[in-house]
Amino acid sequence: MKNVIKNSSKQNTFSLPKGKWLKDFRQKLLAWYAEHARILPWRGTTDPYKVWVSEIMLQQTTTAAVEGYYYRFLERFPNPQTLAEAEDSEVLRYWEGLGYYRRAVQLHRAAKVIVSEHNGQFPDACDKILALPGVGRYTAGAISSIAYHQRTPILEANTIRLHARLLAYPDDPTKSVGNKLLWQMAELVLPEQNNNTQNHGRNEPNTQYGIFNQALMDLGSMVCVPKSPDCFNCPVVKLCQTALKGLQDAIPALKKEQNFEERSEAALVIEKNGKYLMMRYPEGVRWAGLWDFPRHVVLSEKPLEYDTDFCLAIQRMIGYKIAILSPLTTIRHSVTRFKITLNAYFAETLEKCSKSEYEIQWVKEKDLAKLALNTTGRKITKLCKL
Ligand code: ADE
Repeated sequence: MKNVIKNSSKQNTFSLPKGKWLKDFRQKLLAWYAEHARILPWRGTTDPYKVWVSEIMLQQTTTAAVEGYYYRFLERFPNPQTLAEAEDSEVLRYWEGLGYYRRAVQLHRAAKVIVSEHNGQFPDACDKILALPGVGRYTAGAISSIAYHQRTPILEANTIRLHARLLAYPDDPTKSVGNKLLWQMAELVLPEQNNNTQNHGRNEPNTQYGIFNQALMDLGSMVCVPKSPDCFNCPVVKLCQTALKGLQDAIPALKKEQNFEERSEAALVIEKNGKYLMMRYPEGVRWAGLWDFPRHVVLSEKPLEYDTDFCLAIQRMIGYKIAILSPLTTIRHSVTRFKITLNAYFAETLEKCSKSEYEIQWVKEKDLAKLALNTTGRKITKLCKL
């Protein structure tokens, strides 16, 4: 790379582009985006509230998964006020199935902050956006560039890969040195001035920094894909150090393989007089705020009815002694680093023995639809046609 400036984060050894490289890159990227921009539901707006909701939904989640949720959520909660006034359980119900439920809890909290501290108006200063619960540097950068036309960089999975390849960064780009370098790159590549005179995307309002950031994400997710990037159709292939060196398979350097842990859990379907015993996960645990069939990890190899640790754990959670009746179904799923085998059983309650540690509720079959359940809880309701 001829046009380079030295990056100080790695003992002055790594170079960031400048001058003609940047000019060419910006021009080629925007020309490509004008032709290839993805049409996504949140692309037609600069309303900061809508941009915020979309960006929170998009954290660690694919655009395809978010598409189904975005309109439904905004129809029910069209502004910070309606969101702030809603019950937690309803917000979670609208998030059900999207995963990472902490995002919904924090979105709700942030809406309350917007109402109480910002008069119901979404803040426009980047530091105020960054101070909202659930908003990190990426999300704040996306909102202020897309909604407020600020020159703020973004860095997420697609752009980490794209920038790492453009620079042929050889180490793990998510570690602190690489991450710092790529944030510098993400800022450097942004156009120097906001040029509001052209409409680059097919359904975009004119906001060049927002457009530019979304063009970077689209190039990363459509062309510079993790495996076998489509360098043949890449508008910036000639500017890409990885393509020039033929290192596409080696860059970005893969994170150490995550060690998955196998884990067994059991859930109990307990019915009495047409109502099902449901428990709500408390603050601070997995699925906080969501409802589920009573469920706990199983550590013993014994048949469940002889597993006193499991039965006592459930007893403490729901405040009833229980008897296991018969197996119902097995569901395999992953949560964070756990590969879980969940066995569901029919069970019954015996006598009440203590105050329940978890909030519990006996719920009529027809009312299960109104509760925010975790994905496996909802699957069980469907599998046994509750
Ligand atoms: N991922 C995160 N934010 C995005 C956006 N605005 N467009 C496309 N993909 C995204």
